[in-house]
Amino acid sequence: KPEPEGSMEWRSPSNIALIKYWGKQGNQIPMNPSLSMTLKYAFTQTEVKWRPNDGTTQGEFDFFLSGQKVGPKFEKRVGNLIKEMAKAYPVLNDLYFSITSLNTFPHSTGIASSASGLSALALSLLSAAQRATGKADEYPRFLQKASHYARLGSGSACRSIYGPYAIWGGGVNTESSDEYAIPYKPHQDFEIIYDSILIFSEKPKKVGSSAGHKLMDEHFYRQGRINQVRENSIRLLKALETGDFEMWQEVVEQEALSLHGLMFASHEPVLLLEPDTIRFIHDLNAFRAGKGLKVAFTIDAGPNIHLLYADEHREIIRNFISEWIMDHHLQIQVLDDETGKGAKQL
Ligand code: PMV
Repeated sequence: KPEPEGSMEWRSPSNIALIKYWGKQGNQIPMNPSLSMTLKYAFTQTEVKWRPNDGTTQGEFDFFLSGQKVGPKFEKRVGNLIKEMAKAYPVLNDLYFSITSLNTFPHSTGIASSASGLSALALSLLSAAQRATGKADEYPRFLQKASHYARLGSGSACRSIYGPYAIWGGGVNTESSDEYAIPYKPHQDFEIIYDSILIFSEKPKKVGSSAGHKLMDEHFYRQGRINQVRENSIRLLKALETGDFEMWQEVVEQEALSLHGLMFASHEPVLLLEPDTIRFIHDLNAFRAGKGLKVAFTIDAGPNIHLLYADEHREIIRNFISEWIMDHHLQIQVLDDETGKGAKQL
């Protein structure tokens, strides 16, 4: 039955794309499909409290992130998401929301807080909407809808709902869709992969992801990129299904460098890599040559490296990272994470 008042809280993780989403059209429809690994320890926890809007508050909601009221830009995104959801759940128009959110990872470490943040928000708001109307979906359908709304908030957020991996974008298999992400379970050797994130810069991104995606609209290599993703998706899925770490490494690293290659070749070139990013890749290549290590690097729209590796090479890789940092007299933060299961209601 309808609950005019209540609270819901969700925990939703960040994710790291192995096949990169870069370029979009229409209402947050991706130019190409993407595939990500869900993280475990980097997550956002969001609580939504709702009650009838009696007009005593200034707006329809208040949003506090780590105890601070969020800025107007983020507020607008939240407002838009509520409006979008209200199309299906008009009851939302008559409610007031008090929203509080916390991240486990420090702000602006280059970890995409939008993926965890917007997915946690979509999950909490959708639960609130369904509780307030007294019309709850079955769990799988609920998650699918939450993924759809998370996508409208921030594309990559739709993948954070599910673990251990998620696919977003039509045509990858018979279930995959442009509208929402679907979960993906790989060969058992890929079920737990460690991710050490080397934070080379904590500066906010020079190019926001919306502006970044736009660079693909008229990109010289647009069709080439679409073709490349088609082939890389097939190859990565094959690697993940058969436990082929060599092919996994090849595809994951090519995707990371292609993302930045596309940025370099844009009409307005974008250079986000730092000298340390490149230096690290060179030294990693020298270190691992001939060793057959199950390790791959990937990079998002920033300078930071995600180093992914299997349990059997955990020690050797972690030692390599610490020594590399000491050898170069750097003071950088490393966040250790691993494959996670996806979002969770608290
Ligand atoms: O979700 P957005 O709009 O912030 O875009 C994310 C884009 C990349 O992180 C660079 C790649 C991806 O697939 O996550």
